[in-house]
Amino acid sequence: MSKHSTADVISRDPFAIDIADLTVRRGKREVLHRLSASVEKGSITGLLGPSGCGKTTLMRSIVGTQIVASGTVTVLGQPAGSKDLRRRVGYVTQSPSIYPDLTVADNVSYFGALYGRSKSEVADAIEAVGLTGHAKNLGDQLSGGQQTRASLACALVAKPEILILDEPTVGLDPVLRVELWEHFHALAEQGTTLLVSSHVMDEAEHCEKLLLMRDGYLLAQLSPAELRATTNRQNTEEAFLELIRTHAEPALAGGA
Ligand SMILES: Nc1ncnc2c1ncn2[C@@H]1O[C@H](COP(=O)(O)OP(=O)(O)O)[C@@H](O)[C@H]1O
Ligand SMILES: [Mg+2]
Repeated sequence: MSKHSTADVISRDPFAIDIADLTVRRGKREVLHRLSASVEKGSITGLLGPSGCGKTTLMRSIVGTQIVASGTVTVLGQPAGSKDLRRRVGYVTQSPSIYPDLTVADNVSYFGALYGRSKSEVADAIEAVGLTGHAKNLGDQLSGGQQTRASLACALVAKPEILILDEPTVGLDPVLRVELWEHFHALAEQGTTLLVSSHVMDEAEHCEKLLLMRDGYLLAQLSPAELRATTNRQNTEEAFLELIRTHAEPALAGGA
């Protein structure tokens, strides 16, 4: 399933991201072990797993900022990190990255200008993350959660084809969290591909597809409904634990 002809990759490939046999070392440790996964175009894929399992490392590999030991990462038919992909792939890191001495509005306007976006598009991006009331605040006058949302607005205003969001809803209040997921769904309906990580398992219900990770291995790639059906558990946290219990770990099943 993960192998396609060149023609497929260019035209009909349903995958925005295709990862094959990816191995990554950080320091002396191997943190991703021959991982293969794919992300469908125009969908929300949740990358879920406990802290330290390799979510950020996998995302860095997709945006091309991670040195990989072996394997391939193909994004929109091109090798990850290709120059052409820079404008097409948006990445919001786990720790907020905004200019502390600029206002929210100026931060987002700056990125808007880079991508030729209008004033109203800048306002829309700020509205989408619920920061309209704080648009005139400086970056360093914001709380941690507000800084995360400001970073997200900077990525949204670019309107990339793929959005890679590393734990964007961590530390947000429940109402805001729901609103953000609604916005992500609206983006996916317009054709944007979203890969969203979380260590909170109940975020799974917002996603169409799940990549479940543990200790640098992909445990499963399935839909939330399939996860519930295969584990016979309604609660995602319990389903994840059941998956770990019932499935032999890839390492033991005869991997690297
Ligand atoms: N800069 C680094 N140098 C060495 N090891 C790292 C570095 N960053 C992360 N790691 C290790 O890589 C593994 C995966 O980390 P990470 O991808 O950040 O996981 P997650 O995002 O799921 O919490 C962890 O064991 C972590 O300790
Ligand atoms: Mg992380």
